[in-house]
Amino acid sequence: MAIRFADRMLREDFQGEFMKLIMEAVASDDIISFAGGLPNPLSFPVEDIRRATDKVLAEHGVQALQYSAVEGYKPLREFIAGRYRAQGIEASADQILITTGSQQALDIIAAVMLNEGDAIILEKPSYLAALQLFHFYGPKVLSVDLTEEGADCEQLAQLIEEHHPKFFYAIPNFQNPTGLTYSEKVRHKLAGLINASNTLFVEDNPYGDLRFSGSPKTPCKKLMGDQCVLLGTFSKTVSPGMRLGWICCSDPQLYQKLLDYKQVVDLHSNFFCQMVLAQYFADYRVEDHIARITQLYSHQANFMMDCMKKYFPAGVEYTRPEGGMFLWVTLPEGMRAVELSRRAVKRGVAVAAGDPFYEEERGVRTFRMNYTNCADEDIRKGIRMLGEVISQMQAESAASKTEA
Ligand SMILES: Cc1ncc(COP(=O)(O)O)c(C=O)c1O
Repeated sequence: MAIRFADRMLREDFQGEFMKLIMEAVASDDIISFAGGLPNPLSFPVEDIRRATDKVLAEHGVQALQYSAVEGYKPLREFIAGRYRAQGIEASADQILITTGSQQALDIIAAVMLNEGDAIILEKPSYLAALQLFHFYGPKVLSVDLTEEGADCEQLAQLIEEHHPKFFYAIPNFQNPTGLTYSEKVRHKLAGLINASNTLFVEDNPYGDLRFSGSPKTPCKKLMGDQCVLLGTFSKTVSPGMRLGWICCSDPQLYQKLLDYKQVVDLHSNFFCQMVLAQYFADYRVEDHIARITQLYSHQANFMMDCMKKYFPAGVEYTRPEGGMFLWVTLPEGMRAVELSRRAVKRGVAVAAGDPFYEEERGVRTFRMNYTNCADEDIRKGIRMLGEVISQMQAESAASKTEA
């Protein structure tokens, strides 16, 4: 039988190819991988989760194993809302919808908001799995440049005026892939623009808790109110394997639509894990746990940057993140990150070439580096090898120019 697939599965998926390469590199024991985005396993509170699990099963076993509410476990939603209130965001448990990771939150938002051909805006570059996902819904994807201070607000204003996009999707804290964070100035400008428009702001904040230097910035949701939906996840602070994230949405009409869609798709997210997490947060101070993670990531980020300074040739630039899991490298003019990544993998080190993080640009000279999942010695070895490959590419390029 010739299986007749849906058109959306037959579209050329450029991002998918790169995703496969990244996952292969992450899975291989012989390759030092800076290509993925895995939290450091040292950050998983295995014993505490085991104790919380025992308690849930002993005290609420039947509830934990039964079907339950679409929106999620109330104590967990209260915990999330309470943490938002501590940051000055007006939020209540009724505005939180628990999802299967923030990846599902993105899917629910896209499904509820998008008709084919609708305009949306993404940062340039953006999170590649969001690009992949939004493409399933056939929108017109527009991109706005990302500067050291955040989205270029002039460009954004023009795009909003010309295209009336349904939403602008952005990651203002320790962005994936660049590690950049929006300044206060840009946040306020952005809020002015969004609040004066009919465009929703989708603020994806998986890394916000992982700040290891600089000062916390005002959440966009605080400045935008109902016109912003804020996404969060436990993947980077507790466990990605538990697959739990959430949407904070204060517009009641939109919240209801998100809930309706979630119900149809999967009834609710893993309730057992929601209860385990709520128990874990009741019994342990999450701030202490997060402090241990940020201490670890601060060391790893600084160690990687020190190695880059030592081993990368002049002309290679990189962002200096104040938190999160990534930094973003720009090669000198004329070099391609895809070529670097091909050669580097042969030497035993993987990076994520920048191309799939863009809607349109190809042959770019940028690439993403993850620092959270390698031991110091591997970081040193991997960066030294990368430095050698870059130098070799530079030498070849200089030689070919001389010949020409
Ligand atoms: C920007 C961004 N959004 C969403 C996700 C999805 O995270 P999860 O589904 O594990 O919550 C990730 C994961 O890396 C991410 O980087």
